[in-house]
Amino acid sequence: IDGSLPSFTCAETEKNLLEAAGVIRDTSETVAFPTETVYGLGGSSLNDESVKNIYKAKNRPNDNPLITHVSSLSQLNRIIYSESSNDCKPLSHIPEIYHPLLAKLWPGPLTILLPIPEDLGKSTLSELTTANQPTFACRIPANPVARALIALSDTPIAAPSANASTRPSPTTAQHVYHDLNGKIPLILDGGKCSVGVESTVVDGLVSPPMLLRPGGFTYEDILRIGGILWNECLVETKVSVKDDEKVKTPGMKYRHYSPKAKVLLLIPETNLPSVSSQRIEKLKELINIEITNENAKKVAFLSSFYLDKTLINHNCIHEPLGKTGKEVQANLFALLRKVDEEDNVDLIIVEGTEASEEGLAIMNRLRKAASNNVIIF
Ligand code: TXA
Ligand code: MG
Repeated sequence: IDGSLPSFTCAETEKNLLEAAGVIRDTSETVAFPTETVYGLGGSSLNDESVKNIYKAKNRPNDNPLITHVSSLSQLNRIIYSESSNDCKPLSHIPEIYHPLLAKLWPGPLTILLPIPEDLGKSTLSELTTANQPTFACRIPANPVARALIALSDTPIAAPSANASTRPSPTTAQHVYHDLNGKIPLILDGGKCSVGVESTVVDGLVSPPMLLRPGGFTYEDILRIGGILWNECLVETKVSVKDDEKVKTPGMKYRHYSPKAKVLLLIPETNLPSVSSQRIEKLKELINIEITNENAKKVAFLSSFYLDKTLINHNCIHEPLGKTGKEVQANLFALLRKVDEEDNVDLIIVEGTEASEEGLAIMNRLRKAASNNVIIF
């Protein structure tokens, strides 16, 4: 793995996909594969041993449930809901509240919570995928490699992000190799993920519905597309909770997105058209104090909308995250990893954004990465 996407012939691609599909279908091993959001670490959702191997390779706490990925609604009906009838309607097992969302957003970075088939008297999914939750999480990814893998294996694939637990999610095959080399047999390299943050997780089975994790589709997308049933959708805003606190989505309990280096997050006050030079001078002072207190020898600065490299009066590695929400999302995890793993800095200073549109998912990830070590400017 040298950083570039290898070029394969059609026959080689087919062979690689079939090999990976065979691992998913016929063994209890795992395969890392690209999705449009981040790389996933996949195993059969139907097999306890496969699911155990996912938790083990990532070192993931086993009370944190997994998303099941399917390649089509007919696969969901046939395999997960054991639907034998050919004239079963595509959405017949999906609560109505999701219909407008799925019509526009699937395949894509949207995960929905669905009734567990066991509760309907059908035993299909491994109980370990749902980790005692009253629902299971499901999505149809848009990435063609992901969908081909799921369709060829003819198996619903349980897949968390393919990072070692607590680290930033992987957006290239190289990131997966860095974290999981020696722990998994196969990585499918499909190049860089286009979205760069994980899927949006919504629960339409509670009233009012809830956005449990902001992600690839924005909250504003959900309200606009979901129609009247989603008007009152609440947003889970906590980024951390106590170990024993009962939460709707267990992923929130755990340290996540953390580089080795300390992260300092700079948060703009809302709706800034620009930042006054006075405020920038104050910010510079506070940053200098932090660099001195941390005794940081090597510093990185990831900038986005308002700030530039003149902010840091210190020898530092500067990486622009991008000038739109989508660009920042696409580069965020890759640049956190680059300065942490390749440049080995001790302090990463990141310019945050306003928490709306793509900014909601970006700030959710950054607040976790920074463990609330923040300066508001
Ligand atoms: O984009 C993505 O969603 C990626 C790709 C690989 O599809 N997957 C991903 O999985 O991010 P993971 O395991 O890293 O995050 C899944 C999140 C966790 O926060 C978990 O707690 C939540 O979804 N989750 C899964 N099943 C749930 C359920 N039944 N109820 C509540 N939350 C659930
Ligand atoms: Mg994850």
